[in-house]
Amino acid sequence: MKASSLFFAISSVLVLSAAAGACSKSDDAAAPGGPAQTADAGPDTASDDFPVITLGAEPQRDGDPQKGYRALVNEAYVPCGIPDTAYSKVFQPAPESARVPGREGRNATLPYNFTAMKTKDGVDIVTSNCLSCHAGRIDGKLVVGLGAADSDFTNDPSGTAGLVGAVLTDPKELAEWKKWKERVQVVGPYSVLSTRGPNPADGFTAVLFAHHDPKTLAWSSTPLMDVPPPQDVPVDVPPWWRMKKKSSMFYVGGGRGDHARIMMTASILCTSSVEESRAIDAYFADIRAYIMSIEPPKYPFPIDRALADKGRPVFEQTCSRCHGTYGDKPTYPNRLVVLQEIATDPILASGAAQFGPPFVKWYKDSFFGELARLEPQQGYVAPPLDGIWATAPYLHNGSVPTIAALLDSSTRPTYWTRDFDSKSYDPGAVGWKHTVVDHGKDGESDATKKSELYDTTRLGYSNAGHLFGDKLSADDRAAVIEYLKTL
Ligand code: HEC
Ligand code: HEC
Repeated sequence: MKASSLFFAISSVLVLSAAAGACSKSDDAAAPGGPAQTADAGPDTASDDFPVITLGAEPQRDGDPQKGYRALVNEAYVPCGIPDTAYSKVFQPAPESARVPGREGRNATLPYNFTAMKTKDGVDIVTSNCLSCHAGRIDGKLVVGLGAADSDFTNDPSGTAGLVGAVLTDPKELAEWKKWKERVQVVGPYSVLSTRGPNPADGFTAVLFAHHDPKTLAWSSTPLMDVPPPQDVPVDVPPWWRMKKKSSMFYVGGGRGDHARIMMTASILCTSSVEESRAIDAYFADIRAYIMSIEPPKYPFPIDRALADKGRPVFEQTCSRCHGTYGDKPTYPNRLVVLQEIATDPILASGAAQFGPPFVKWYKDSFFGELARLEPQQGYVAPPLDGIWATAPYLHNGSVPTIAALLDSSTRPTYWTRDFDSKSYDPGAVGWKHTVVDHGKDGESDATKKSELYDTTRLGYSNAGHLFGDKLSADDRAAVIEYLKTL
């Protein structure tokens, strides 16, 4: 087997390993207004026509942020992967630009998104970690906690996972590879999107639940419950620093109860017992504490302070009832905005097919359900806007390339593409430099161009809704945009 195809096989499938489970949501379609919410009209009652839903805070386990960072970048919480012998045949030690501080032993020479471990059979393997999706580049810099916005999930990795075995001979290594391959082949078809940029993590998890016994977490090669066919459900990875303010996890507010337990659900790709899962869970309160400590990066370009100061009161009048206030005494309402009011793409909030009530029940009945719950809502949480300059593209599906376009819906491009270079930043419009295209995916014959074309006419990819900026005058809008750079 050629080194180049092995390289492709390893890099495309490893990234999946960390994803499975951590970031699922589930569309049980619990009606807004259920027991987890408290109605609270707050200081602003401008939208009388819609319910005001507040997601209240729940107790969390304490942790140590420093220990959490150490665990995040050194522990193998997704404990299956590729034997290091195969990995090392293809990969050189990571360049400086792909390393993060604080890594120990073999991890020190691996890229930030891969982690090494020794299995109980003594096999050295390389697996992936949260940073595959939760570290991103902006203006040339790698930022831990920024969602990766340039990933490419347009290929099903399950075919190439099989190729890795061709370079292995040791029976124990072959056994580790087979375990990992089987699981990648289960999630592979559920990890494919039609478009580069967004993330398929919300599509993986139901299928992994289906392959585990909820009580024992034992793996089953065949699904133990029905799984609907894969769906194209694009999600823009949110930045971790929002969790400081958020009382729920995920766009639809579906992650409730103990957040650390929800985060460590990622391990389910590889784990096969409650005992193994409990050992991983033991350090996730620390990982959560680290996530809660992350500050957003500061806007690196010049800011017109006088204009930003003009924008602040406009923002507070037009936007704060949902997004909160910023500065010395910040407030944040943890508000869930129902679909009818927000009117952004409904697919995620109205139930991507594979996340039905059976999967919510699976979670409840499982080890994870001891402390955490999946309670997806039919709407989207209005996120904190700290560091918003760095998190383009915008909306939960990443359908709008800049804040300027978000706040004037008549300028949102229907078809657009970008070069995925983190230096291609547009400080004027606040977001990615992009090219407006005159045709959708159906009119594109070049396969790469087609996958890099964001086609907002596709199911799940709509850029509709969130029209709150439309009613601003051009001057006020420019002032609000300047103000947003300061958050
Ligand atoms: C394959 C990509 C991927 C990997 C790997 C991954 N995540 Fe995520 N994560 C996502 C996506 C996508 C979302 C948003 C899902 C949603 O809201 O519906 C998310 C959401 C989250 C959130 C909630 C953020 C918010 O604002 O609600 C937290 C916290 C989080 N992930 C932590 C982790 C941790 C910890 C790990 C590793 C154990 C991890 N994730 C691994 C893709 C990933
Ligand atoms: C009625 C509540 C509400 C009001 C008012 C509101 N927003 Fe939002 N906003 C939301 C919700 C909900 C989302 C998430 C929608 C989604 O992802 O589909 C959002 C998303 C955003 C985002 C994108 C976040 C991201 O990372 O994708 C930005 C930026 C934003 N709003 C700015 C503003 C500004 C500026 C104003 C005032 C002009 C405003 N919003 C008014 C509810 C509101």
